[in-house]
Amino acid sequence: MSQDQGQGTNKNVTITDNSTGKQATFPLIAGTDGPPVIDIRKLHAELGYFTYDPGFIATGSCESDITFIDGDQGILLHRGYPIEQLVEHCNFLEVCYLLLNGQLPNPEEFQEFESVITNHTLLHEQLQYFYRGFRRDAHPMAIMCGVAGALSAFYHDSTDISDPQQRLIASHRMIAKMPTIAGWAYKYSLGQPFMYPKNELGYAENFLWMLFGNPCENYEINPIVAKAMDRILILHADHEQNASTSTVRLSGSSGANPFACISAGIASLWGPAHGGANEAVLNMLREIGNKSNIDEYIKKAKDPNDPFRLMGFGHRVYKNFDPRAKIMQQTCHEVLNELGITDEPLLELAIELERIALEDEYFVSRKLYPNVDFYSGIIFQALGIPTTMFTVLFAVARTVGWISQWKEMIEDPNQKIGRPRQLYTGQAPRFVTPISER
Ligand code: SDX
Repeated sequence: MSQDQGQGTNKNVTITDNSTGKQATFPLIAGTDGPPVIDIRKLHAELGYFTYDPGFIATGSCESDITFIDGDQGILLHRGYPIEQLVEHCNFLEVCYLLLNGQLPNPEEFQEFESVITNHTLLHEQLQYFYRGFRRDAHPMAIMCGVAGALSAFYHDSTDISDPQQRLIASHRMIAKMPTIAGWAYKYSLGQPFMYPKNELGYAENFLWMLFGNPCENYEINPIVAKAMDRILILHADHEQNASTSTVRLSGSSGANPFACISAGIASLWGPAHGGANEAVLNMLREIGNKSNIDEYIKKAKDPNDPFRLMGFGHRVYKNFDPRAKIMQQTCHEVLNELGITDEPLLELAIELERIALEDEYFVSRKLYPNVDFYSGIIFQALGIPTTMFTVLFAVARTVGWISQWKEMIEDPNQKIGRPRQLYTGQAPRFVTPISER
């Protein structure tokens, strides 16, 4: 394969098929930043081949303006703004507005947006009965998948994806209702009454109210906890074409309604290799127990025959520190200090585990660093969140990313149904022998 010199949209690459001598030229497309892409849409027509890229390691599935990640530099931008600046200067709803609309809101725009979201936080009263179909010990992510998908049975007036107004209402509804769905999932697991959202509360405060409030006594929202929750929501809001976002895009490409697509995203996020890692990290730290056991578990993580992975470590894109992990670690120290938790053995263990791993050739040579999930569980635990709810919090935060990416895809004039091909390695054609003769 040869490439014309230099970058730009009018450059191209030529592929020579050495088995036939045929050549074909494909355009190189450069984006604002990051590697240019080879537009191979005509590859099969020109050369009769498919590409083969399990896990999509080197494959761009779409064009997007929303999030940019530079994995080598450890950079994360949302609509061009570095995550570090968004965490410092914005609240989560400002970031939601940014992801959805492409610009940060001015005070009037923010007030209007916050009012719209606030007035969509209530769930249809009938949805309560959905919860009663689950066992009390159901994993809350199972409940999230079910109830989020069920919204399409209640909000028919925002499922016509060809109508921009309905797309916007569905987007607002998903962002607004996820904390309520999550809060009720937690209350259901406790056997406690559901708490209704309070319109006078901010987004993070309302979420804490629905998680920890109860009708029998006043619930004082700790501003430290609320600020930490808001920051954690920002850190988890969007992350380019990760597995769950790609699931939402692929589901939406068939024209499925946005509520069903978000339910598919929740299901994908639940996996321990993805959003389920935050719950797995805490379980891993508890299993390791103390610093004297670290070497044994590092050995297991390095053993190709042992399925054990160092949870919260490694990333498909980041081959440097995940910038979110750095902020999460700093937030961890702040929250524990501000809550007066001076002795958190799990944090000490995590810091020692990180130190040892980052000095180990196995991790260094593979560029395995802590990711967003490595410290988040310790903060969640300090905030009083139970382990099974960790990935639920991730889903609440990521909903704005999923819905923003879904909306961008639906509004893309080049959008087509996603339909990957395959390398077939099965049986050659053969004839059926009737069972009487088999
Ligand atoms: C998230 O995509 C996103 O953006 C996701 C996310 C988001 O915001 O949406 O950032 C959120 O999902 C973060 C990742 C959370 N998952 C974990 O923490 C689970 C532990 N990590 C691994 O499972 C793994 O690192 C992945 C799944 C995150 C990435 O897997 P890849 O890119 O397919 O990497 P790989 O499996 O090909 O690993 C490359 C090498 C392998 O060794 P060799 O075959 O070269 O000998 O690194 C090893 C792996 O065995 N490796 C690990 C490891 N992660 C990779 N070895 C031990 N422990 C690990 N955690």
